[in-house]
Amino acid sequence: MVIAVTNRKGGVGKTTTTLSLASGLFRRGYNIMTIDGDPQLANLTSYLNLDTTDVPTLYEVLVGKAMINNKEIIGKEIFDLAIRHTSIGDFLPADSSLAAFENDSILAKETCLKWFIEKYKLDKTYDFIIIDTPPSLGYLTTNALAACDKVLVPSSAKRGSLRGVLDIMGLVSQIKERINPKIEIDGVLITEFNTRPGVGPTLLEWAHMQSEKFGFKLFDTVIRKNDDIDKAEMLGTDVFAFNHKAPAAIDYETFVDEFLVGIEKARQ
Ligand SMILES: Nc1ncnc2c1ncn2[C@@H]1O[C@H](COP(=O)(O)OP(=O)(O)O)[C@@H](O)[C@H]1O
Ligand SMILES: [Mg+2]
Repeated sequence: MVIAVTNRKGGVGKTTTTLSLASGLFRRGYNIMTIDGDPQLANLTSYLNLDTTDVPTLYEVLVGKAMINNKEIIGKEIFDLAIRHTSIGDFLPADSSLAAFENDSILAKETCLKWFIEKYKLDKTYDFIIIDTPPSLGYLTTNALAACDKVLVPSSAKRGSLRGVLDIMGLVSQIKERINPKIEIDGVLITEFNTRPGVGPTLLEWAHMQSEKFGFKLFDTVIRKNDDIDKAEMLGTDVFAFNHKAPAAIDYETFVDEFLVGIEKARQ
């Protein structure tokens, strides 16, 4: 199953949620691949401190060729050279070279990732492929949406980022009609939740109203705002490994369970 983690807003917890979900699923014994679909400096590849000098990355996988030591590499070999075996399972990294993808002219540009996953049956190799996306609705995000079964939308507990959810819903319905009929929104996950009375709880009430009005699912679990997330990130690890008793670690653990229950229900 392929999961795209997306919201057009930046700083809403997409990368943190991708990392935590991947780590949670991997520790539960699932065979996981995480794809970093974001060319920005503060992407998951940088959170994990992975060096991408002289190795292919997602960019080469998408365009279908790589030059390594003056030798041209094509097809599955690009992927085999790009994939890393990390503490959160297999990982396909990205670096700033990925930004060029938005302006490249490539055949069937919205479906490069979908094509690669299907051609090499990666969706059969892995139980879950989780794709992090940049904070924009360009070709990289479109590739993630074209390739996925489900969309997970993290939204920080602010009205602005919840409005970003509506943009994603619009794009998802277009993608469903034109490119990927199986796509579904899995749900919206509230992150960086401030538990103070009058702040988080009021926002949550509003979020539930929006969810009823616009017909999206809100996960019951909310992820509390917690500095241990930043501390873990600084050390290049996930919050569970940093402090499994941290409020955000407890919340993400609960979220992974809720996520899995939802997937099981959808399969029946
Ligand atoms: N629950 C949380 N509590 C505190 N800080 C958080 C939480 N979730 C994310 N952050 C911090 O907020 C910033 C943005 O998060 P990130 O996951 O990179 O968002 P995005 O990928 O949507 O841009 C990061 O510095 C991250 O450490
Ligand atoms: Mg990010």
